[in-house]
Amino acid sequence: MNISLASTRAEQLSPFIVMEVLEKAQSMKAQGEDIIHLEVGEPDFATPTPVKEAALRAIQNNDTHYTHSLGKLSLREEIAHYYFRKYGVEISPEQVLVTSGTSPGMLLVFSVLLEKGEEIILPDPYYACYPNFIRFVNGNPVCVPVSEAGGFKYSPEDIKQHLSPLTRAIMVNSPSNPTGSVCSASELKDLADLGQIIIADEIYNGLIYEGEEHTILEFTDRAFVINGFSKLFAMTGWRLGYVIAPREYIRAMQIMQQNFFICASSFAQEGGIAALRDCEKDVKSMVNIYNERRRYLLGRLKEMGIATSHDPSGAFYALGNVKRYTNNSYQFAFEILEQAKVAVTPGIDFGANCEGYIRFSYANSLDNIKEGMNRLEHFLMSK
Ligand SMILES: Cc1ncc(COP(=O)(O)O)c(C=O)c1O
Repeated sequence: MNISLASTRAEQLSPFIVMEVLEKAQSMKAQGEDIIHLEVGEPDFATPTPVKEAALRAIQNNDTHYTHSLGKLSLREEIAHYYFRKYGVEISPEQVLVTSGTSPGMLLVFSVLLEKGEEIILPDPYYACYPNFIRFVNGNPVCVPVSEAGGFKYSPEDIKQHLSPLTRAIMVNSPSNPTGSVCSASELKDLADLGQIIIADEIYNGLIYEGEEHTILEFTDRAFVINGFSKLFAMTGWRLGYVIAPREYIRAMQIMQQNFFICASSFAQEGGIAALRDCEKDVKSMVNIYNERRRYLLGRLKEMGIATSHDPSGAFYALGNVKRYTNNSYQFAFEILEQAKVAVTPGIDFGANCEGYIRFSYANSLDNIKEGMNRLEHFLMSK
């Protein structure tokens, strides 16, 4: 008998395992253990000063009330300028809806697109929350396994095999969480040329260490871009994001925003303007530091024989292939936590096809990464 009080809709969600690892690591820490955190995808940097100053100014000026539900026009204009400056694409502020983080943006996009039973195609491995969002609005996630040998990127042929009359959109996340892979211009163009709506989660754009970076909007207008300030500007706690959408969907999303969220934080939006306008130097410096950590981490993973065949070149994640040690990444991650005192995320959090991998986040200091790798090496030697 089902004795749960929660609705079926709530019950069918799977937990975000990385949070469970984090919570266990925190309780171990509270008992005096010294834990190295390589599990959470959260920048360890402070939010850049211009952002903090802009928000403080806004608070002092009593800019502490509801804003327009689409977001402040000044921020939406700044977002349009930013996409033009970085990628040469022209978007109108009228296509931009500012949200309280990328996550609510995702909910609005899937909600505006999906009728019951309709499908979103996603690569597996995927960002853990996508299928939950899709199911929550009665859609079906259709996962396309992408291989390590192919750099964890999907080919149009893979996708074509999964298209159906129920397909509503194809999802792409480049740079990717958890794989760190980045799509080239031609790979994004191939996706756009499939003629389907593309949902591009570009939250890690800007965090790229090799090659060029692109937006899907260079290749198609039939796209929803989800982006935010959490990662690039070290603003996870500010809860600020945005959606760039084809104009015809904006009104419906605005109505959902008015009902469900009202608007994003007024002073966080002022911080967002400063982030886009005044933080190029801060971002450059963070990117250089991430890259130094990435190189170090990859070197150690290679020495341990668990590096993947293609180096991750974006975001701040690397997968370790631990298939020769385990086919249960969940258990393995908790073993690493308990025995080596290093918190990592089990691959299974990111899809069935990510079993046999663990994810490392290098959003932590080089010293901590070094210590984490020393401990992991010792742990693996005991296996
Ligand atoms: C791929 C991806 N999209 C979205 C998010 C959520 O970001 P936000 O803090 O803007 O809600 C994350 C956070 O880890 C992520 O990795």
